[in-house]
Amino acid sequence: KNVLVLHGPNLNLLGSREPAVYGRVTLVEIDQKLAQFAREQGAELSAFQSNAESALIERIHAARLDGTTFIVINPAAFTHTSVALRDALAAVGIPFIEVHLSNVFARESFRHESYFSDIAVGIISGLGATGYELAVQYALQQP
Ligand code: DQA
Repeated sequence: KNVLVLHGPNLNLLGSREPAVYGRVTLVEIDQKLAQFAREQGAELSAFQSNAESALIERIHAARLDGTTFIVINPAAFTHTSVALRDALAAVGIPFIEVHLSNVFARESFRHESYFSDIAVGIISGLGATGYELAVQYALQQP
């Protein structure tokens, strides 16, 4: 099993970015914990963050050829804007879970719309960094 974790724009600032909304944990800490969990399960995990839509799209395209079996993605603000990122996930056909640290439905109405949810295996929103862990756990449970 080979899980790819993707983080969208501004998530590199986790830890200091709006801590009341997103918590104090940093992206490095999140990724390290996920990598350790995957290792314990005998699986591969790689993580990638970008503030650029194009870089995220290119990474998804590369996943077609690098053995990725499952994607866990927090598209961040691109959740609400990016048809291109949605199309990239649809194009590669790799199953994915959409994760949000915050409960997007408890926030501004523009965050209630997602270009990803209807083609995702599932969605986790509002559980903080634990959401990523649960998503990876699910991915590693798949046959
Ligand atoms: C987010 C929610 C988005 O609305 C926001 O633009 C983000 C982070 C979250 O993890 O809660 O950047 O995806």
